[in-house]
Amino acid sequence: MNYLKVNKEAWDQRTKVHVGSKFYDVEAFIKGKSSLNKVELEQLGDVTGKTLLHLQCHFGQDTLSWARQGAIVTGVDLSTEAINQACQLNATLGLDANFIAKDIYQFGNENNDEFDLVFTSYGVLCWLPDLSQWAKIIANSLVIGGEFHLVEFHAFNDLLSGYAYFPRAEPDVEEEGTYTENCNGEKSTMLTWPHSISEVISALIAAGLTIESFKEHANSPYKCFDDLDYVVEQGYQMLHKGQQIPLLYSIKARKVTL
Ligand SMILES: C[S@@+](CC[C@H](N)C(=O)[O-])C[C@H]1O[C@@H](n2cnc3c(N)ncnc32)[C@H](O)[C@@H]1O
Repeated sequence: MNYLKVNKEAWDQRTKVHVGSKFYDVEAFIKGKSSLNKVELEQLGDVTGKTLLHLQCHFGQDTLSWARQGAIVTGVDLSTEAINQACQLNATLGLDANFIAKDIYQFGNENNDEFDLVFTSYGVLCWLPDLSQWAKIIANSLVIGGEFHLVEFHAFNDLLSGYAYFPRAEPDVEEEGTYTENCNGEKSTMLTWPHSISEVISALIAAGLTIESFKEHANSPYKCFDDLDYVVEQGYQMLHKGQQIPLLYSIKARKVTL
């Protein structure tokens, strides 16, 4: 099975649903609402005047939110439907973002630009078969002193939902609907890979990056899994035998030397 073709079709189909969803609320976004959350806003800090590469940017809301905060942004995503939507939003908002429709690995092979910041978030790693290569692409895309920022769903939840935790070469092949509230039951085939947290951290270290922070978070801003409770001013949480499970983790890493 050609995983890129299958996953691109799935994300093209999902994007058409997502742009009309309350989950992504494009109308409010156009009126000025940022799509960024406290975790990444605090972690990246002031991005004014910095060049920022956003990997797996979906249809660009976060990329354009960083642009609204003053960053000079480039977004990359496999889905041409998502990138077309991102370009339309960019034009509507009169911003100057650069969007590229490409597989991340192909982008990495062809890219010669270096950025101050590389950012990627919320549901990105499971689509990638090879994290060693992923981490090298990040390291090669950063200037010396540049920062990498990841905010990702914690694999703990996947494990409790019956998915593998430890890395495997063979993908999971599944028919699934999407996570927005307007999913009308339409399913698409998708191929995903499990990645343990140690695999993520080891890949970044092996690529020469210095980990500056690693955090786990009990609350998530997104209601995109079953069995979540909303806690006022905290976001969603999931209890397992009465205890909060980690729903997100975040990593900040720096390219210190070549
Ligand atoms: C869950 S979304 C990321 C969420 C994003 N933070 C948002 O705005 O909601 C995952 C994205 O990864 C993209 N993707 C999947 N495989 C990819 C690949 N090999 N190269 C680049 N992008 C890929 C999908 O097209 C999709 O837009």
